[in-house]
Amino acid sequence: MERIEKILIDERTIAKRVKELADRINEDYKDSKSELVFVGILKGAVYFFADLTRAVKIPAKLELMAASSYEGSETSGEVRLLHDITEPVGGKDIIIVEDIVDTGVTLKYLAGLFKSRGAKSVRLCALLDKPSRRKVDIKADYTGFEIGDDFVVGYGLDYNQRWRNLPYIAVIDIT
Ligand code: IMP
Repeated sequence: MERIEKILIDERTIAKRVKELADRINEDYKDSKSELVFVGILKGAVYFFADLTRAVKIPAKLELMAASSYEGSETSGEVRLLHDITEPVGGKDIIIVEDIVDTGVTLKYLAGLFKSRGAKSVRLCALLDKPSRRKVDIKADYTGFEIGDDFVVGYGLDYNQRWRNLPYIAVIDIT
């Protein structure tokens, strides 16, 4: 069984950064006349989505989606949509809230999906970014932290569905 190697980002640091991202979103969308919809990607973004959206002051709609490209710690390079949103997105400002951009395959797929559905704007907000692992050309508009090539768990992120409920982000040893 895997074990926690070290805490990479503690609870206070996460909370402070999430507040900063929400402040930027408040500023960027304060004059928008369109409806703002946050789309959280299950399950990894669950805590980030809850904390971020509660710090945003603009009255927004919340939607959840489930996508999967991962088995164990290796990406399959394919995105499966396991649960779709229920509302039409035409003419709306969409912010996709994701836990981590790794290869970038998931976010690129989801951004394309919302654009093809006629969203007025699509922005990407990711708590974590692993730029060294990128396979497709994509960059989040709002990024919490850039990290190295470690496999991380906690604050929503899992290894084989375990460890999501840690309140901090940790590196695990899966050897
Ligand atoms: P991408 O499509 O390769 O960018 O992968 C995105 C998804 O892979 C994320 O939403 C996570 O669910 C998962 N993932 C990537 N890196 C990690 C990690 O270090 N820990 C846990 N999940 C990860």
